[in-house]
Amino acid sequence: MLKISDLKVRYGGIEAVKGISLEVPEGQIVTLIGANGAGKSTTLRTIAGLVKPAEGRIQLKGEDITGLAPDKIVTQGITLVPEGRHVFPDMTVLENLKIGAYLRKDSLEEDLKWIYDLFPRLKERSWQAAGTLSGGEQQMLAVGRALMSHPKIMMMDEPSLGLAPIVVKGIFDIIREVNRQGVTILLIEQNANMALKVADLAYVMETGHITLSGPGQELMKDEAVKKAYLGK
Ligand SMILES: Nc1ncnc2c1ncn2[C@@H]1O[C@H](COP(=O)(O)OP(=O)(O)O)[C@@H](O)[C@H]1O
Ligand SMILES: [Mg+2]
Repeated sequence: MLKISDLKVRYGGIEAVKGISLEVPEGQIVTLIGANGAGKSTTLRTIAGLVKPAEGRIQLKGEDITGLAPDKIVTQGITLVPEGRHVFPDMTVLENLKIGAYLRKDSLEEDLKWIYDLFPRLKERSWQAAGTLSGGEQQMLAVGRALMSHPKIMMMDEPSLGLAPIVVKGIFDIIREVNRQGVTILLIEQNANMALKVADLAYVMETGHITLSGPGQELMKDEAVKKAYLGK
């Protein structure tokens, strides 16, 4: 569904992504793992149109979307749940969700029902200021807001960061459920153990390169992956 070919991204003189190629097949959960600074966020931000690539191509269902503006990328069906969640703290849960639908308001009520069915907790807190939600609830809201754009692909940048283990488990349950409902997932995680468990396909990124790829379950058994990312 999503195909990235020979992507290079530079910040000034620094090359953060050094010619990577990867594919995200329709209906799958794909994960990108790797140490801090490997270029994972840069890759997602480039797909989302927030950063312009120096070289390479990004295709969605065979169509070239390289370098499109962020709102056009959302319209094409790709959404990003950014690292750190970035909900609007002074706005209510409901207002935050409505912002996610700013490019398509045609089925607002239906979409809200979908999100509230997925996250009953958000429904209960519909009128609460987003800034007063717990970390896990804010992550739910960030996911809900992203889903309001009806994405074909939802990209998530470190959704488990800073959350307690029990809450992280909840977030991964949500990722599975959203995927089961037909949304393709591209997930970045520091929590390689959890990410590889849910991933149909996984890529390992090191200093701007992709060094390994394969089914998540297979990479979990890889000796180098175990040593570097699973603490075994
Ligand atoms: N806005 C930026 N300006 C300059 N350098 C950046 C910027 N964002 C990231 N970098 C650099 O690009 C490299 C990759 O960063 P990033 O994509 O955030 O990695 P990861 O998400 O894997 O931790 C790092 O060396 C980082 O310092
Ligand atoms: Mg990052």
